[in-house]
Amino acid sequence: MDNFNTITDFINKSPKTELHLHIEGSLEPELMFKLSKRNKVEIPFKNIDEIRSAYNFTNLDSFLKIYYEGSNVLISEEDFFDLTWEYILRCKQDNIVHTEIFFDPQSHIPRGIRFETVISGIDKALKKAERDFGITSKVIMCFLRHLDEESCFDVLKQACNYKDKIIGVGLDSSEKGNPPIKFQNLFEQAIREGFLTVAHAGEEGPPEYIWDSLNLLKIKRVDHGIQCLKDEKLIERLVKDQIPLTVCPLSNVKLCVFDKLENHNLKKMLDKGLRVMVNSDDPAYFGGYLNQNLIETSKALNLKLEDVKKLIENSFKSSFLNEENKKDWLKKIS
Ligand code: ADE
Ligand code: ZN
Repeated sequence: MDNFNTITDFINKSPKTELHLHIEGSLEPELMFKLSKRNKVEIPFKNIDEIRSAYNFTNLDSFLKIYYEGSNVLISEEDFFDLTWEYILRCKQDNIVHTEIFFDPQSHIPRGIRFETVISGIDKALKKAERDFGITSKVIMCFLRHLDEESCFDVLKQACNYKDKIIGVGLDSSEKGNPPIKFQNLFEQAIREGFLTVAHAGEEGPPEYIWDSLNLLKIKRVDHGIQCLKDEKLIERLVKDQIPLTVCPLSNVKLCVFDKLENHNLKKMLDKGLRVMVNSDDPAYFGGYLNQNLIETSKALNLKLEDVKKLIENSFKSSFLNEENKKDWLKKIS
């Protein structure tokens, strides 16, 4: 067995990329409290401890309710800048050299926040990250799948004005009962506009949602995808085409998909040759950023050093970096 300290050391030191991170999910209670005061937005908590103790979730929907409430404190461009910059400081701490972040415009626009305000705040922080720390990034706009197609087409139209800042579109929010087919036309239009596509699929929902995301939404990566192990044919397809699965272990435990980290299926996925990697999803709500996800998961699943290397390599290979950049980073993981 590889020494756990050696693995922890490797995780801390290795350059890494993160491919599944909701920027609104990096809103720490301290910043939520500060912004609620700055913007005079009421939140249903008296102090930071009360916020933290509300983070006991039973499933995805129980989390989403609190997550959308938390997002209400984000109003100005400066707020989106501060939010993103705080995440970037965590990236620096964790030695994340490239990150691909999701944002949810439909949780802001109905509150009267302009698309421009959201994307500009995020973009300014990401540009500063590259200038100050050399951390590179891509931005993916997510559609909220509990909303109707019309609302999603509206934000797609707005995103078309920011093609220089947004590389792709994704699909998040409440999965069960909101199947990929509901968004087939929308994703066809997004692809015609030149956006890459990804989608949350098989987080809580059935393997069919992963099949439909691949076949109907033409996705380049499956976000989560952990339910794929229930379908042998699907595993074959995912392995054959080396489709990336952006797994988020601490998230899956917090949202009760697995009762404990020791029972997570990540190691089984790795052993089947699936292209999996580790991500933090909504770290402010789920109790850990990328390195903590990697360290706790390595310990709980008794991963070997070569497993951890594979996870980090898979992440670079699955990113939207160009091939030359991927090759350069891959050389640095040893
Ligand atoms: N939005 C933020 N985090 C999410 C998750 N884990 N699943 C679906 N939608 C989300
Ligand atoms: Zn997610």
